[in-house]
Amino acid sequence: MKKEQKSKTALITGAASGLGFELALLLAKDDHDLIMVDVDAEKLAKAKEEILKNKSCKIQLINKDLSTCNVAREIFEAVEGRSIDVLINNAGFGVFGSFNDTDWKREAEMLNLHVITTTHLTKLVLKGMVARGHGRILNMSSLAAFQPGPLMSLYYASKAYILSFSEAIANELKGTGVTVTVLCPGQTKTCFQEVVSNGVGKTSSENKINFNVACPKAVAKYGYEAMQKGKIVAIPGNINKLLSKLPRFVSRRTATAVIRRIQEKNRDA
Ligand SMILES: NC(=O)c1ccc[n+]([C@@H]2O[C@H](COP(=O)([O-])OP(=O)(O)OC[C@H]3O[C@@H](n4cnc5c(N)ncnc54)[C@H](OP(=O)(O)O)[C@@H]3O)[C@@H](O)[C@H]2O)c1
Repeated sequence: MKKEQKSKTALITGAASGLGFELALLLAKDDHDLIMVDVDAEKLAKAKEEILKNKSCKIQLINKDLSTCNVAREIFEAVEGRSIDVLINNAGFGVFGSFNDTDWKREAEMLNLHVITTTHLTKLVLKGMVARGHGRILNMSSLAAFQPGPLMSLYYASKAYILSFSEAIANELKGTGVTVTVLCPGQTKTCFQEVVSNGVGKTSSENKINFNVACPKAVAKYGYEAMQKGKIVAIPGNINKLLSKLPRFVSRRTATAVIRRIQEKNRDA
């Protein structure tokens, strides 16, 4: 008798749009059941409908604000002990402006989401993965992780945290069957560009430097394949790979000044 193959389960945060949605679609096409987490219930329901048009699979929706305290534990409890084979910590947003002027509440939410929730959810899911001897984790960083970013100082710093944290635990997990990949995209055409917040609320500050902007499908596919191969740091695009090495060719101070010029151009555009 043919043994029925058990489908794998993937948990994706920020799965209602952009890169998270594209990653969820790839996972569904690759026979995973999905646990999709996002802050907007209506967008989540639409994303589920869209995925089911492409592929039949089981989808659990979890509507949570990932920037709140202890939300990783609430998500973990909501999945009720299901084995998670793939964890994608993707949700994120940016806050634009000079550190002296930006709104602390929005910044604290961003730090909670990028740093605390990403770390806590990884810790909670990892234990089961290690015990079962397999698992894939994909954490969403950014090209912003490779140097300081004036006018988006905390966004850049939090993405540097995700890069450093992911590389360190990837090393610790060697030989366990669990891999950690950190995806570092450059500019990608998603809602992210439209909702970089000035700290007061969401503003339409469309990034005007439209050089080297990638399509979310291509970035997600690159990240997905890197995760499947167990690659540690994944930077999509040759220009981005080169830009990530900028601080090796010029001083860190110069690299920081270059980013400041770019951010000022974005602000003035
Ligand atoms: N796009 C880029 O240029 C770019 C470049 C490098 C890295 N990234 C990273 O890629 C990741 C995905 O961004 P994206 O470009 O795909 O942007 P996106 O289209 O805005 O997708 C982000 C998703 O996360 C959700 N989200 C935001 N805050 C949340 C919260 N507190 N709780 C739960 N869900 C939340 C958003 O919901 P709402 O829209 O309802 O808020 C949205 O569905 C982020 O971590 C971002 O930093 C993006």
